[in-house]
Amino acid sequence: MDATLLEKAIAYIRSLFQNRGDGHDVEHTLRVYRNALEIAKSYPKTDLTLVSLGALLHDVDDHKLFQTKNNENARAFLESQDLDQAMIDRVLEIISGVSFSQNKGRVPSSLEGKIVQDADRLDAIGAIGITRAFAYGGKKDRSMEETLRHFDEKLLLLKDLMNTDAAREMAERRHAFMVEFLDELKKERGE
Ligand code: ADP
Ligand code: NI
Repeated sequence: MDATLLEKAIAYIRSLFQNRGDGHDVEHTLRVYRNALEIAKSYPKTDLTLVSLGALLHDVDDHKLFQTKNNENARAFLESQDLDQAMIDRVLEIISGVSFSQNKGRVPSSLEGKIVQDADRLDAIGAIGITRAFAYGGKKDRSMEETLRHFDEKLLLLKDLMNTDAAREMAERRHAFMVEFLDELKKERGE
């Protein structure tokens, strides 16, 4: 793996997310990157450069955050680096494949795409997932009740939607913690 390339990608996402007024945090992307490398340890055939670039760039064209079309931000970054077109296309395919809503549940075709999607989903569950859900709900002025619905509709389903066995295993503890949290919340609310 080219360390300089990854350092440049990290510097790029830091600057991109930092210039946003809403403080959308680069930390999510860095956790996804870490999760992806952790999952990849179980799959020795993984192309680590592909997984790393896919994870680091997976949200740089998120339609909720940026008004770009056709992965413009990711494409511009990748084309500014010394990469061949085949590699650029493979990274862009991963990025397009990660989003659940945009892909209507389609499973990414490459192992690397599956890993990055799982890594992103891991960051939506567990203790981190809980804080992200309530942060999102608060920002959208949603009630606790409405945010709790997101757990039933999506977050509690993610464990069984993991593409890779390694991610499913990593999801177990996070899932159990969410279930425990929801039980405790019910008790404290006198339900
Ligand atoms: P990603 O980084 O995977 O693209 P999203 O942009 O879909 O994630 O969502 C960002 C975070 O906000 C996630 O943790 C997700 O669970 C949470 N979120 C998304 N929609 C809702 C919702 N309707 N209620 C509560 N949380 C939500
Ligand atoms: Ni993400």
